[in-house]
Amino acid sequence: THTIGLIIPDNSNPFFAEVARGIEDFGFQNGYSVILCNSDGDLKKELAYIGVLTSKRVDGIVFIAATAKAEHIKPFLGEIPLVIVDRKMPDLEADSVLVDNFGGGYAATRHLIDLGHRKIGCITGPPDLAPSADRVAGYKQALKDHGLQPLDELIVEGDFRYQSGNEGMRRLLDLEPPPTAVFACNDVMAIGAMKAVQDQGLRVPEDIAIVGFDDITLASFTNPTLTSVKQPKYEMGKIALELLFQRISSSDLQGRQEIILDTTLVVREST
Ligand code: RIB
Repeated sequence: THTIGLIIPDNSNPFFAEVARGIEDFGFQNGYSVILCNSDGDLKKELAYIGVLTSKRVDGIVFIAATAKAEHIKPFLGEIPLVIVDRKMPDLEADSVLVDNFGGGYAATRHLIDLGHRKIGCITGPPDLAPSADRVAGYKQALKDHGLQPLDELIVEGDFRYQSGNEGMRRLLDLEPPPTAVFACNDVMAIGAMKAVQDQGLRVPEDIAIVGFDDITLASFTNPTLTSVKQPKYEMGKIALELLFQRISSSDLQGRQEIILDTTLVVREST
C-alpha cells in the first residue's frame, strides 16, 4: 500500500513531532504516506492502533513505545516490518534507532559541575523507560567522577510532561538549602521547572541553573533560552525509515541492527 504506520506516545511533546517530521519527509520523498497514531501513553490505545495499521495493510511500522512493555502487542505484529525508535524494547525482534542517553546525562551534569555547581538536582522521566534511566545513570556517574555523592533527596521523579517538571522543581526548591542547578531529563519538564523558579521570584540561571534534554526548537525561544542535550531527532526519523525500507524490500534480512546516535550539549542562557 506504500503506507507506513508511526506510533508515538505523546503528540503534545515537540520531541515526537520533530522525529515524525523526519519520517514523514523521507517517506514522502520515497513515495510513501505516513499514518500517525498517538497512543497517549495508553497500552490499550497502542494495541488498538497496531490493529488499525495492520488492517490497513501498512507496509511497515515505526514504533516509539509508551512504556517498556511489549507483550501486549507482540502477538499482533506478525511478520510486519517494524523499527523501534528512541525507547529500547529488548523483547521485540526489530531494528532500533537510539541515542547515547547515558553520555547525554553525563555531559549535562559535567557542564554544571564545570560551572562550579556542587548541589545538583535531577528531575527524572518515567523510571521504567530506558532513556530516562540511562540519563539518570549518566548524571550519577558524572557526580561520582567529580567526587560528589548522588543524594536521593536531590532526585525527583517526573513523567516527561510539563507539570511534573514544575512540581519536581517546587520540591527541590523546598530543600534547605535548595540545589543551585538542576538537570531535567527532557526539555518539556525543564520548561515546567523554569516556570516554578520564576513563579517564586527567583532567577534562572543566577539562582538556579537548568539543563534539559532533547533540544526541541522551543529551547531557543524560552526566556532565558534553555541549555539542552540535543538529540538528532530528524536524523533518527530518517534512519528509522531507511532501516524499515531495507526490511520491506528484503524480508529475509538476518539479524537486527541497533543504531546508537550521539547527543550534543547545546549551551544557552539557562546555565
Ligand atoms: O521528551 C520526550 C522524551 O521521551 C524524549 O527525551 C525522548 O527521548 C523520549 O524518550
